[in-house]
Amino acid sequence: MIKTELLAPRPDAIEKAAGILRAGGLVAIPTETVYGLAANALDGAAVSAIFAAKGRPQDNPLISHIASMDMLGMVAGHVPPQAQRLAECFWPGPLTMVLPRGGAVADEVCAGLETAAVRMPSHPVAQAVIRAAGVPLAAPSANLSGSPSPTTAQDVLADMAGRVPLILDGGACEVGVESTVVSLAGSIPVLLRPGGVTKEQLEAALGCEVQMAHAVLHGLREGETAASPGMKYKHYAPKAEVTLVKGAFHAYCNYVAVHAGPGVFALCYEGEEAALCVPAVAYGRKEDAASQAHALFAALRELDRRGARTVYARCPREDGVALAVYNRILRAAAFRVVEA
Ligand code: TXA
Ligand code: MG
Repeated sequence: MIKTELLAPRPDAIEKAAGILRAGGLVAIPTETVYGLAANALDGAAVSAIFAAKGRPQDNPLISHIASMDMLGMVAGHVPPQAQRLAECFWPGPLTMVLPRGGAVADEVCAGLETAAVRMPSHPVAQAVIRAAGVPLAAPSANLSGSPSPTTAQDVLADMAGRVPLILDGGACEVGVESTVVSLAGSIPVLLRPGGVTKEQLEAALGCEVQMAHAVLHGLREGETAASPGMKYKHYAPKAEVTLVKGAFHAYCNYVAVHAGPGVFALCYEGEEAALCVPAVAYGRKEDAASQAHALFAALRELDRRGARTVYARCPREDGVALAVYNRILRAAAFRVVEA
C-alpha cells in the first residue's frame, strides 16, 4: 500500500504532480467534468499502471488530455477539418474527439485501436498540470472500474486511497458527468457518449447531422461490437439495483408507494422528497439538466452510503444535456426502465 496525499492545487503541489507524472507515476486531478487518474500518455508502463489501479479491462482505451493545440500532433495522426472546427468551437471544454492515432501516444492508451481519443480540458488545475508535465496525460475517470465517476476529491480518495500517491483537490467538478465523445475517424461524425457538449451543439457547429451510436440508448445487441469499448461494460453502478421510472410525478409517487419496503429509496428532483413515502435522494432540479448532471454521481454515491438496496429513479429528458444524464442513469439501471 502506498500513502495517498491529498493536496490543494497550489503551485508547489502542481510541480510535485508534474514530477510524479514525468517519472512515470499516477496523479488524480480535477477536470471540469469528473476527476481523472492521470499518467504520461507517451509512457506505456505508466499507462499500464492506470489500468492496474482502477481494475480496468485492458481493451478499454483512454482519453489523452492536452493543454494546447501543439500537443494534438503527439496524439492524433491526422486532424480532419471537422475536428479543427469542433476544437475551435468547444476546446477547452468537455468534448473528446476520436481521431486517427498519431505515432507518439503509447499503444496502451489506444488499447490496440487505430484511433486515439483526445480532449483539451478547461479546468485551470488540469491545464496547469498538463503544462507542467509537458506531455499529454492519459486519464480515465478516477474511480474503481464500474463504480460511479468521482466528482470530488473525497470521492477519489474513497476509491483510490493506497493506489495513487497524490490527489489534487480542486473542489466539486462543475459539469459532473464525463465528456461528450464524438468520433471523427469515419466518414460521418458519430456521437459515442453524450455529455456537456450536446448533440444539438455539435450539429450546429458542423452544419450536418451527427449520428448517435446505438449503444447510447440501448444495451449492446448480441454479437454487436461496441463503437466505443467503454459502452459494453456495466457502468456508473451503485450497489443498489436501480430502476428508471417513466411518467408524471404523481404516477411516479404511486409507483414508489406500491413498491416501498426495507432498503427502498427514491432518486428524485430537489423539493420532491416530502411527497415520497420512502427515503429520497435528490439529483438536481426538474427541467434543469445542468444541475442534474452536476449532482447525479454524488447522489449515486450517497445512496450507497445510506445502504440503499433498491432505487426508483425519476426519468430525465432525452435531449440536450439531459441526454447525458439519461444515458448515465440508464447504465446505472442496467437498462431497467418501467412506465408508471
Ligand atoms: O470527462 C472525461 O472524459 C473524463 C475526464 C477525466 O476527462 N474521462 C473519462 O475517461 O471519462 P473514461 O476512460 O472513463 O472514458 C473514456 C471513454 C470510454 O468509454 C472509452 O471506451 C472511450 O472513451 N474511448 C477512448 N478511446 C477511444 C477510441 N479510440 N475509440 C472509441 N472510444 C474510445
Ligand atoms: Mg469512466
